[in-house]
Amino acid sequence: MEKTQVIYITHSGTTQDVAKAVSEEVIKTGVEAGVLPAEHVKRLTGYSAVVLGAPMIMGWHRRVLKFLRQHKPE
Ligand SMILES: Cc1cc2nc3c(=O)[nH]c(=O)nc-3n(C[C@H](O)[C@H](O)[C@H](O)COP(=O)(O)O)c2cc1C
Repeated sequence: MEKTQVIYITHSGTTQDVAKAVSEEVIKTGVEAGVLPAEHVKRLTGYSAVVLGAPMIMGWHRRVLKFLRQHKPE
């Protein structure tokens, strides 16, 4: 079955709420979806789609830039 993984980074919680809302909308289309904070994600394989959400904190949050660098090959 297809699975979308919604991954988020947050500073004060808002992006977590948005990530949950995004996954709920994906589920409504009949596609399985999960939500995880970026620090709990080891690998990006096995998903049909990945959604990454992060806040702007004086530019893109530094943890999202690190996450993208780490997972660039995947
Ligand atoms: C210290 C700080 C810096 C911020 N810098 C930016 C910024 O550069 N650009 C922007 O559009 N928003 C900026 N914001 C607004 C945040 O992106 C916004 O509050 C966001 O919803 C925070 O998401 P979070 O609740 O998931 O941490 C900043 C907020 C804080 C507290």
